[in-house]
Amino acid sequence: MRTAVVTGAGSGIGAAVAAALAADGCHVACLDLDGAAAAATAGRLAAASAHEVDVTDARAVEAAVADVEALTGRVDVAAACAGIEVHTTGYDVDLDVHARIHAVNVLGSLITARAAARRMRVHGEGGRIVLIGSINSQVALPGQIAYASSKGAVLMLGKALAVDFAPDAITVNVVGPGITDTPMSAVSLADPERSRRILERVPLGRPADPAEIAAAVAFLASPAASYVTGAFLPVDGGWLALG
Ligand SMILES: NC(=O)c1ccc[n+]([C@@H]2O[C@H](COP(=O)([O-])OP(=O)(O)OC[C@H]3O[C@@H](n4cnc5c(N)ncnc54)[C@H](O)[C@@H]3O)[C@@H](O)[C@H]2O)c1
Repeated sequence: MRTAVVTGAGSGIGAAVAAALAADGCHVACLDLDGAAAAATAGRLAAASAHEVDVTDARAVEAAVADVEALTGRVDVAAACAGIEVHTTGYDVDLDVHARIHAVNVLGSLITARAAARRMRVHGEGGRIVLIGSINSQVALPGQIAYASSKGAVLMLGKALAVDFAPDAITVNVVGPGITDTPMSAVSLADPERSRRILERVPLGRPADPAEIAAAVAFLASPAASYVTGAFLPVDGGWLALG
């Protein structure tokens, strides 16, 4: 049985990724800042564990990954889904807020990938790492100084890690969701005017279900994706194609 570490597993896309990887036969270690939410996700899966962890805390992430390895004997997959978004503009951005968004979205992804890759390298059987970027890895919307710059960084982080980890057959890819129906986007989607404006930009005309993002992550985490690394896979209903 493969072992997968999923951050942000307590909600939205992370919870869906945990479910998809469990359906593919993985033991899933569910990491989240919200320990109760992580435990709730783990409780729905056949083989899983829950870990209350802040992904910006490198020691805590390393310890959680070590616990998982002690439990299952291996780490094969890591999916860094923990992320936060706060509306900030270039005029009024609070630098502490900016730094926190980058800490969770960029540093947290690096800390997760590094902790998993260190274990994968020791085992010598390769591995799969998937980071969650966004359409905002490539395009900005108003009020996204912190978020879009963090997601741009996640895209380049994925490419740089892919190059570094390739000699150990560890692949690193970035999935770029478009607007997805999760608690993060709930406020925007609940506002009829904002929702209309957002969905106008989506050729498929609807938000993604988190399971549709998870399906892409599960592919990149699978043996079938053995020659895919350093890639960016938008799962956006055609948003980036519309330009
Ligand atoms: N929902 C969207 O429309 C959308 C679009 C593009 C990209 N994304 C990205 O997908 C990822 C998941 O987003 P979501 O929509 O599922 O959001 P969500 O708010 O539903 O879930 C995020 C989860 O991450 C956890 N988390 C937050 N900070 C953490 C930290 N420091 N340490 C550990 N866990 C932490 C939260 O507790 C929560 O369970 C994020 O990276 C987000 O930027 C979302």
